[in-house]
Amino acid sequence: MSFKVKDHYYNKAKKENYLARSVYKLEEINNKYNILNKNMQVLDLGYYPGSWTQYASKVILPGGKLVGIDIQEVNKKIQTIENVTVFQKDINDVKSLSELGVEEKFDALISDMAPKTTGIKSVDQARSMQLVEMVFYHLPNFLKSGGNFVIKVFDSHEAQLYLKEQKSLFEQFNYLKPKSTRSVSKEFFAIGKGYKGE
Ligand SMILES: C[S@@+](CC[C@H](N)C(=O)[O-])C[C@H]1O[C@@H](n2cnc3c(N)ncnc32)[C@H](O)[C@@H]1O
Repeated sequence: MSFKVKDHYYNKAKKENYLARSVYKLEEINNKYNILNKNMQVLDLGYYPGSWTQYASKVILPGGKLVGIDIQEVNKKIQTIENVTVFQKDINDVKSLSELGVEEKFDALISDMAPKTTGIKSVDQARSMQLVEMVFYHLPNFLKSGGNFVIKVFDSHEAQLYLKEQKSLFEQFNYLKPKSTRSVSKEFFAIGKGYKGE
């Protein structure tokens, strides 16, 4: 999926044993905003195939743990990482922390989820917004007060308006289009630090 375009980042990911080129998006976000730190408990939504998981699980060592979910069948390669647990689950069906095998809320929530695209702009934008709204809906249950947040968003007028309304949930809220994002892509990332919710 993520290795379709064989560009510089594709080759770099192959060489560095990452499962997808998307890793460089999270790396750039983290270098700039310091979202992930050692010993954090992290929730990785739409983790498959797992390059964000590979990167984040290293940054949070020695004491941190990562839980990932995706609708895809569990990636066995990722399951072998010691501080990682992954589940085959749809974000729309997750109701509680206990389903994710944890009792406490997470220190950071990262979401690279994207719907399968149809090529029909209005349909793709609506599906993407539904996922974004679902993640924000879950924030009070999944993210600790003071926690950090990254979410992929497909740009649209509706998305801009929606994010503007959510901004005050965080001490700091920023947008970034990482260098490794293809120039034709409409995606960008919203990055929140210091969650003010319960
Ligand atoms: C761009 S990929 C993630 C790449 C990943 N971050 C990496 O670095 O390897 C987006 C993922 O979102 C997942 N996804 C889409 N809808 C979902 C949903 N409703 N619940 C959970 N995962 C979902 C897709 O299955 C897909 O694997």
